[in-house]
Amino acid sequence: MLAPGWPAVLADGPVTLRPYHRADARAWSEVRRVNERWLAPWEPTPPGSWAELNAPSSFRYVLRELRRSGRTGEAMPFAVVYSGRLVGQLSIGNIVRRAFCSGYAGYWVDHRVAGRGITPTALALVVDHAFHAGGLHRIEVNIRPENTASRRVVEKLGFREEAYHPRYLHIDGAWRDHVGYAITAEDVVDEGGLLARWHRVSGRT
Ligand SMILES: CC(C)(COP(=O)(O)OP(=O)(O)OC[C@H]1O[C@@H](n2cnc3c(N)ncnc32)[C@H](O)[C@@H]1OP(=O)(O)O)[C@@H](O)C(=O)NCCC(=O)NCCS
Repeated sequence: MLAPGWPAVLADGPVTLRPYHRADARAWSEVRRVNERWLAPWEPTPPGSWAELNAPSSFRYVLRELRRSGRTGEAMPFAVVYSGRLVGQLSIGNIVRRAFCSGYAGYWVDHRVAGRGITPTALALVVDHAFHAGGLHRIEVNIRPENTASRRVVEKLGFREEAYHPRYLHIDGAWRDHVGYAITAEDVVDEGGLLARWHRVSGRT
């Protein structure tokens, strides 16, 4: 049986979200390796060297785990493609159903395309998808207080700041505090969804 909302392809203008393919190995490795200094401060502490873990040959293990988590309904792991180029990732993970119907969003983009609104567009697409085909009710994003770029993403989309979690996740070598943001389906229903809200507030059509 397929997990609700997975697999899927979502698009808005030049931004497309889709499952990873085997053929992404080289592009994935290039973008991950070029962005080590940009990404490492915000990612779970890696269990080995960045170059090795992000080599083209490692991609099949990454892909196997992403596919497994998508198939079982634990996650919706999307590759982010911009004007035809693989530039990042946006995943809903830690999906819990029953009375919770909630998941955590995590994301990154290549520093060479930062500041173009790719991530808010991608997050709005995925949240709307998660609330409809995915059958979820709530999406949470946890961000280190000093990560102003990521906090701007959720603030521009109108997520609610709900919590402060001391020593919440093991990121870049230590247990780091996080600010908890969330959005529920009711928050955007009157506006026709989060993408419609993002188009309105950003002036994008
Ligand atoms: C956080 C991140 C995903 C935002 O993606 P994005 O597609 O650039 O998002 P936006 O275009 O909306 O830009 C968000 C903010 O980044 C900052 N920014 C803009 N251009 C930038 C650039 N060239 N370099 C660095 N930061 C920039 C601005 O503060 C911007 O907010 P503003 O629109 O109010 O000016 C991206 O910065 C990233 O990948 N960072 C490293 C990984 C990370 O932090 N992941 C999230 C962990 S919680």
